[in-house]
Amino acid sequence: MMTYTVWTVLTLAAVIVFCTGSDPYCPNPVYDLCKCNIRQNRVIVSCSDIIIKKQIQVILENYHNIHISELIFRASDMKDVQWKWFQNMNVSKLILEDTSISFDGKSDSVDMGKTLNELFISNGELAGGLDGLRLQSFKRIQRLFLLYIDLPNLASHIFPDTLQVLELVENNISDLVTGLFSNLKDLESLSVKENNIQTVHRNLFPSVCKLTHLDMSYNYIKHLPNDFFAEMPYIKQVRLEHNKLTTISKQVWYPVWHQLHTVSLMGNELICDAKIRWIYESLEITTNLFGTCDSPAWLRDVHLLSLISEDLE
Ligand SMILES: *[C@@H]1O[C@H](CO)[C@@H](O)[C@H](O)[C@H]1NC(C)=O
Ligand SMILES: *[C@@H]1O[C@H](CO)[C@@H](O)[C@H](O)[C@H]1NC(C)=O
Repeated sequence: MMTYTVWTVLTLAAVIVFCTGSDPYCPNPVYDLCKCNIRQNRVIVSCSDIIIKKQIQVILENYHNIHISELIFRASDMKDVQWKWFQNMNVSKLILEDTSISFDGKSDSVDMGKTLNELFISNGELAGGLDGLRLQSFKRIQRLFLLYIDLPNLASHIFPDTLQVLELVENNISDLVTGLFSNLKDLESLSVKENNIQTVHRNLFPSVCKLTHLDMSYNYIKHLPNDFFAEMPYIKQVRLEHNKLTTISKQVWYPVWHQLHTVSLMGNELICDAKIRWIYESLEITTNLFGTCDSPAWLRDVHLLSLISEDLE
């Protein structure tokens, strides 16, 4: 009787451990288009070349109630996938490469919307534009990467306000509309590099801004407004290489200069004259300042950090 009880308890314990899913596991694959691996206790599912919609549905259903750390689709067609196929899915990070995507149907109670922390889309097509992504469905998303996708017209408040990291790289963006990022009160890192941006304004961001890293390199920015870094108490790194800036204005930079760890201005047409003398009159240059003079001719290609106050007329 005693032995029997012990066995019952042990069996029950094993069943409970199995059912709560404390050990990550991979189900048997339904097609050989997806590979499931467990790395460092994390389930990683990687699928490629899926072009039949029904297969996507069957694949997703195979992973219901399993916590997937990374779900990857490459070279696949996910246009008009039904939100409800993601019901009962628990995915932390969704990666789409060379894959077109849009969501169809209502998303209110779909579990993946509550679990997704990071969305990475590279080099695909967003059918229906950014609206087709249903970004507002992702209630907990903190990291969003949209790389090499055409997104010329972005409307303000389109990004979920839970974001901490946002990268919009090579999206053919030319205009940053007023208030575009102004709801992103927790945003710490923003990249808009490799676009066609010509002008920027402080009102792109929330009035008190948590940004630490800002990358606007490889654009066509000529000028930063005087208040650009106002109320940015945490800013540490600013990358502006390969723009059209001609000076490093004291009004713009002085308020945050002492707190910046890195300022990168390589590839601009900087005029090294009396307007930038303030940098060399500060007690010390505390930043990692990268950049070279373009003019006057006798200072061309001289690194900013090798100048002294007397060079600047
Ligand atoms: C998703 O999985 C994680 C890790 O197992 C768990 O903590 C979380 O509660 C799950 N969320 C849902 C909505 O099932
Ligand atoms: C970039 O956007 C413009 C419209 O703003 C469009 O005419 C052009 O074709 C786009 N370029 C690419 C490479 O998608």
